[in-house]
Amino acid sequence: MATQTRASEKTLDDLFLDELADAYDFEKRLTKALPKMAKAVNSLELKNALESHLRETEGHVQKLEQVFEECDHKPKAKKCEGMVGILEEGEGVVTEFKGSPAMDAAVIAAAQKVEHYEIATYGCLQEWAGMLGIENAAAIFEEILGEEKTADETLTEIARAMANEMAESGEDEESEDEDTMAEEDDEEEESSSRRRGNRR
Ligand SMILES: [Fe+2]
Ligand SMILES: [Fe+2]
Repeated sequence: MATQTRASEKTLDDLFLDELADAYDFEKRLTKALPKMAKAVNSLELKNALESHLRETEGHVQKLEQVFEECDHKPKAKKCEGMVGILEEGEGVVTEFKGSPAMDAAVIAAAQKVEHYEIATYGCLQEWAGMLGIENAAAIFEEILGEEKTADETLTEIARAMANEMAESGEDEESEDEDTMAEEDDEEEESSSRRRGNRR
């Protein structure tokens, strides 16, 4: 029984170090990707948010180095294929929407995918650090996790403010559209009740 417990702890320990090396890799990549995103956007508020999260991200690299130290390991990066994919996809969308009114929304979407990936990673790392009894590391992950969640919420707020602004500027056109939309809804309801009727 005792041997089994040791074996499972060793497995979690390996997994922990593996995920830590993965996070160290993606944080370093993000210190290069975030300035590109900030440069691509039009909204000053969005630019500031991305730049301020860049500074936090540089801090994450240092905080992860502290965790390596806590675990008596040299900082080691392992190529994070997941983040490489997210960043490649983001770059593709940004290139596609360059110069369009949807550019900022495209960057927000790409950045939020990054944040959600980070949130998932740090949620696991924090739990595992707690389970492994590396309390200082767990506290560091909690700190990073808090910053990732705040960054994600800030992006949501900016996206909503942008959407509201667009809705307000297009309000007149919208009120004209409303009648048409109501008619379309009626038509949709009629045709779906016809479809339901046909199935009976
Ligand atoms: Fe981060
Ligand atoms: Fe982040």
